Order: sequence, then C-alpha cells, then structure tokens
Amino acid sequence: MGFSQETHDRAREIIARYPADRARSALLPLLHLVQAEDGYVSPAGVEFCAEQLGINKAQVSAVATFYTMYKRRPSGDWLVSVCTNTMCDVLGGQRVYDALSEHLGVGHEETTADGTITLEHAECLAACDYGPVMTVNYDFFDKVDPDIALGVVSELRAGGRPAPTRGARLCTLKEMSLQLAGFSDTRDGAVADGPAGDPTLRGLRLAQQHGVSVTGFDPNTPITGDAPVASRPAPAATGSTAPDVKAPQAKSPEIRAAETRAPDAQTPAPDAPGTTVPTDRAEPDSDAEAAESAGAAANPPASDAKPAGDSPQPQRAALRDARSEEGTQ
Ligand code: FES
Repeated sequence: MGFSQETHDRAREIIARYPADRARSALLPLLHLVQAEDGYVSPAGVEFCAEQLGINKAQVSAVATFYTMYKRRPSGDWLVSVCTNTMCDVLGGQRVYDALSEHLGVGHEETTADGTITLEHAECLAACDYGPVMTVNYDFFDKVDPDIALGVVSELRAGGRPAPTRGARLCTLKEMSLQLAGFSDTRDGAVADGPAGDPTLRGLRLAQQHGVSVTGFDPNTPITGDAPVASRPAPAATGSTAPDVKAPQAKSPEIRAAETRAPDAQTPAPDAPGTTVPTDRAEPDSDAEAAESAGAAANPPASDAKPAGDSPQPQRAALRDARSEEGTQ
C-alpha cells in the first residue's frame, strides 16, 4: 500500500529544510515520518525514503537498523521501555521488566496479542536520578516498581491514558513519531516541560550546603571556539576573575601517559604510515587457543529476540512461583 498524500507532502516539507545538496540529511526525520503512518519502518517505508532522497534501500536500511527508535516490526500503540541499565537495575529495574514480561507474556521488542503494547529493554533512559524508570512512548514514569508498572499497562490496555510523572500527556507511538519527524502537536498538553526535580538538584544542594565549589570557577566564563578547554585563551573583558588555565604541554594524552609510566624514557617518534612493525609475539599456544575457542562456543551471542538482559525462562518461572507463594501466604 502506498503512503498517503499527506505523508508525501510532509516528506517534501522535511526535505526542503535541508540544503539542496544535503537532502540525504533528511533521512532521520523521514524514517520517523514513515513510522508515523505505518507504525514501524516497513519495507515500503524503506523504499519510500530511498525514492524521496535518491539513495538506495541498503543505505536507508543501514541507518534504520542502527537506531533503536526505528522499529523494524509492527509495534503496539504503546511502546513500554524499561531501563535495565546499571543504576536502574540495582534499584529494581530488572524486576520491573520481568514483572511486565511475565504479565504481558512478551519479551524484548515483542507485542502483546491484542496489539496494544510493545515491551523493550532500554539501555539508560537518561533519568538515572529517578531510577528505576520506564517510559511509555518516551514519556517518563519515575521510581517505578512492579506494581506501579503493572498498573500503568493495565490502564493502557483498558483504553486509559495514565499521566506520566512529568512532561507531556501520553500520545500514541504514531503520534509521537510524527512529532519526532518535526511536526508539532498542537493539542492541549501534547508538549510540556518543567523545572528540574529534587533528585536532579540533590548534588547541587549538597554542594551549596557544605560550601563545596571549584576553585576559580566562574559560571559566566563563555564557551568559545573549539579548542580544548585547558588550552583556551583567557576570556576577554567579561569581568571574570577566574585564573587563566593553560595546558602544561601540547602533547597527546597517549604520550603524556607514556611519560608518566616511564619518565626517563625517550619518547619514540610515531610510526610513519605504512611502517611494518616487527613482532616478537611467541608462537601460538595451541592449548590456550583451543581453550579459548571452546569458551567462545559455549557462550553463544544473544539472539535478536532475546538480547542479554532478558531473564531466561527458568528465572521467569521462578518469579511466577515466588509470586504465587506470596499470594497464598
Ligand atoms: S540507568 Fe536507568 S536511566 Fe540511566
């Protein structure tokens, strides 16, 4: 099925935002645009983007498969992303994910049978100070636990739209994709922002409370040019009293690190391109290599559908058993 006239018009509008000889830079918003109509980056969507930009489908697919926000399979109206990265994980993120997975009967990037919810792991949602966090179509639910998360998905499946902890009200994945393509949603509450919350400001408040500050730091110092901070010239005529900090030597970090390890050694000149480096590597240890191969074979990579982080089925079963035991007590 072809794309609507509206999508064609929007595609032209997106491409017109870029210089004529840089049209392919429009690919990222175009991918969001086709996702806004199809619910994912379909094969037809890949072809559409390629035609609009005069590039081939492999070039489009290479980009679409790189970013996790482009979905390669039909997705539900509600994309529920649970952070299971380090900070959220130690605060219970994996338990939240496991509870949702068990309740919904789906794993990573799978969609419920009723087509409403797609579940996914996320690698840091940039809200570590509110962990464990989950998002629904990229709007935040902070400090969740299994019960809160199950309440959110139950309300979504019943047709409700639970209010995120902060930010805008929820919109569907297609509506969100259109916003990400650069078309503002003018409906009430579709876009919202707010001040930084207490957890975000905690470090600042502690520093103020204890009088901690960086010596010589002047918050009015302008950020100028593209030189490294340490070698920037002193800002002119800003009234700043901050000292002029300069790099001690214009040497690469690798050379400085080598000098720190062996201060008396002469720094060798870098190899010229094409230099053949002699090797004094010992003959391969066949026992060690065999052991390494055996180890690699015993540790197969995670499949596409079940990446590392998805609890194996026995663990999920144990979780279910533990819950039913709790329920009988
Ligand atoms: S680790 Fe979860 S938001 Fe950063």
